[in-house]
Amino acid sequence: MKIQYQLWLIFSGLFIVVSLTVYMVVSNTYEQRLQAGYEQISIAQGSAILDQLEDTYPYSPNRSIGYLRTYSEQLNSRLIMLDHDKKVYADSFQQLKPDTTLDLDILDQDTVPGSRFSETEFFAYVQYTLLPFQTIEREGYLLMVQEADELYAELKSFQYWMVQTLLIAVSVFFFISYFVSSWFSKPIRQIIFHLKKITPQKRTFSLKYQRRDEIKELIDTTQKMVEELNLYDERQRRFLSTSSHELKTPLATMQLILENLPYVREDEETYREFVQDLSFQVQKMKHMAEQLLQINRIWDRNLQKTTLNARDIQNYLLRSFQHIAQNKQIVLEFEIEPVNLYVDRALFLRGLDNLVSNAIRYSPQGQSVNITIKSDKEQDKISVCDQGIGISPENLPHIFEPFYRSNDATAWNQEGSGLGLTIVKQMVEMHNGRIDIETVQNQGTCIHLFLPKA
Ligand SMILES: Nc1ncnc2c1ncn2[C@@H]1O[C@H](COP(=O)(O)OP(=O)(O)OP(=O)(O)O)[C@@H](O)[C@H]1O
Ligand SMILES: [Mg+2]
Repeated sequence: MKIQYQLWLIFSGLFIVVSLTVYMVVSNTYEQRLQAGYEQISIAQGSAILDQLEDTYPYSPNRSIGYLRTYSEQLNSRLIMLDHDKKVYADSFQQLKPDTTLDLDILDQDTVPGSRFSETEFFAYVQYTLLPFQTIEREGYLLMVQEADELYAELKSFQYWMVQTLLIAVSVFFFISYFVSSWFSKPIRQIIFHLKKITPQKRTFSLKYQRRDEIKELIDTTQKMVEELNLYDERQRRFLSTSSHELKTPLATMQLILENLPYVREDEETYREFVQDLSFQVQKMKHMAEQLLQINRIWDRNLQKTTLNARDIQNYLLRSFQHIAQNKQIVLEFEIEPVNLYVDRALFLRGLDNLVSNAIRYSPQGQSVNITIKSDKEQDKISVCDQGIGISPENLPHIFEPFYRSNDATAWNQEGSGLGLTIVKQMVEMHNGRIDIETVQNQGTCIHLFLPKA
């Protein structure tokens, strides 16, 4: 069911419940007020009669009946005098014999004087009022039985008026709540309408909304999500076009070499050079394909964090880079605190590989590469520092972009696809960490990774 109708039903249902409660409370209060008024009148009338009757009780029932009949006619009510034990002493209608026991609720009532109202079998209402009196001899009661139809007619007319008023109020509220719920749920319908308009070709979402509430938050979040999706899409497209472009370059070189290979077959030295170039390009493509595969895989994988000892990291790096470093007469220095990192082992080591390989690759022969692992209460700090070519301020903002290589780097070293730091950045982001770079051209570079403690 639409939210609009749900709201409408809830509002209307609540209003009906409230109206019924109001009706019951007001009608009961009104009835009690009316009865209290009638009771007051009857007690006043009864007290006046009793002033006359007290002299005749308990000695002259006949005189009492005489008085009772006169007052009974005047007040249009039946008057019965009762003994101290609530048995009939005299009846104005002379129908009840003396000493008759009456079966009436009012006789058991605690609050005397007081009235009780009841409905008869013939849709009429009767008021019974009981008043005590006392003579020197003994005490007795006066029971007044009066018609109370007027009271109930008044009550019925009040109830009728109330039902009418409430019915009008409920109908008005029905209409109002329909419009309120429609107004309230309108933004949701608009959001759905705009979301349905989004296509892969046209991904835009904008909606003007003035109120400051959760719906505004929903609109803003959706807007942001669509923008991010567009950005992601754009990045993905750029990545794809750059990848294919980058892959095409070594392929074109390979094609050129292959086309010219038959012509240099006689010249053994050139022939060997050509084959070496071919092999280099194949290696380069292989490396690039591997890096690309890694980048794609990283996003899809769930982090599998384990404890990684700093010493193990040192051993791993020594095993991986000792020979390459020795070939370039580069010394690997370690400053390692005995700490445990809580990281995704494979992902972390792949990132670190890239940093150390850059440090060795972009350093001249005979320098040293320094690797530090430190830790404080909040984070682990891993730094890889070299005394190499450094990064110029123009290149610095771009080095994390896929396939970006500075001219210096390309001139210095032909190898490399410009994907290494992209992988490092992905790894750090997935660990919710950050990267800092200190670099001075021709002096060296320090890359610091900060990873928060788990
Ligand atoms: N330690 C460093 N010293 C100087 N320049 C660096 C250093 N590390 C990175 N750079 C610069 O940043 C660029 C991008 O580095 P990245 O590791 O992403 O790619 P690459 O090393 O060129 O290739 P790949 O790592 O994919 O084999 C490098 O081409 C280089 O210009
Ligand atoms: Mg690299």
